[in-house]
Amino acid sequence: MKNKVFITRSILPAGIELLRSAGFEVSVNDLDRALSYEELKEKGHSADALITMLSDRIDEEFLTYNSHLKVISNYAVGTNNINITKAHELKIPIGNTPDVLTEATAEVALGLMISATRNFFSANACAQNGEWIDWHPTKHLGHGLRGKTLGIVGLGRIGMRLAEMCSSAFKMKIIYTANSDKINSMSATRVDLAELCTQSDFISLHTPLTDKTRNLIGKKELNAMKKSAVLINTSRGEIINQEDLFFALQEKNIFAAGLDVTTPEPLPVEHGLFKLKNVMILPHIGSATYEARNAMSILAAENIIAGINGSELKSWVDKKDLLP
Ligand code: DGY
Repeated sequence: MKNKVFITRSILPAGIELLRSAGFEVSVNDLDRALSYEELKEKGHSADALITMLSDRIDEEFLTYNSHLKVISNYAVGTNNINITKAHELKIPIGNTPDVLTEATAEVALGLMISATRNFFSANACAQNGEWIDWHPTKHLGHGLRGKTLGIVGLGRIGMRLAEMCSSAFKMKIIYTANSDKINSMSATRVDLAELCTQSDFISLHTPLTDKTRNLIGKKELNAMKKSAVLINTSRGEIINQEDLFFALQEKNIFAAGLDVTTPEPLPVEHGLFKLKNVMILPHIGSATYEARNAMSILAAENIIAGINGSELKSWVDKKDLLP
């Protein structure tokens, strides 16, 4: 009998083709909406392996009900949607898609840095809604990037790539937090979070979401930042205390924020953050390039093939990988 693989959302076809040519029976949720938790649990029950999205809740109850699964391959680098401890206990290998989305996500972080500090979104809104009366000598002013200090919270793959981009293109000084010193070509120095907050002109978050990093950036950290600081988040919304961020932006305690991730996702349209002019919000598009999503499709499939065949996954999520 063929092994059954269920993919919880329709993904780019390369990985699906790979799975079919490996002899698996592949079915895809083609409803163009996320499945409910109950629907997902049942789909898991009749499959041998799953490709899951970062929005799928794979918790203890799900895993206990589906303890027969041979492998779960998350279509994301972040795996905070999965109870890794329980999966390991049940001996279900968990795969993810690092590296292939590094460039794409670093590009979004850089894009948000420039857009937020140069007021792209509010300036665009002004041009569109008839407020562009004439060329203005003092409106829409922002802070330039060249020679500024960039603080990377969690110098992993994506943070490192953003640091390289900013160091070479804008001659920025790089400081970072991490669990250990990271070898780098930018003379970047490791500091503690308090120092990073006070020293940085731009702060970009790249740490995985864990119990230790939830609400890592709150009132204390925001108050320590420069009034001209720009805060970027492309990791997970829960790393920032969003109420504290709202207050800091409203009171202009920091200059701006650029968020590719929020709590919750999607952020309800009536949320106060959408009413502020100094925050730019994207709907979690960090990895959304054709190149990255195609490579993610292939890597996710390779993880499934390895898991079903009982060999080591190309990218296996170990607990230590969750450290920045
Ligand atoms: C992921 O894959 O975890 C990231 O959120 C990409 O944006």
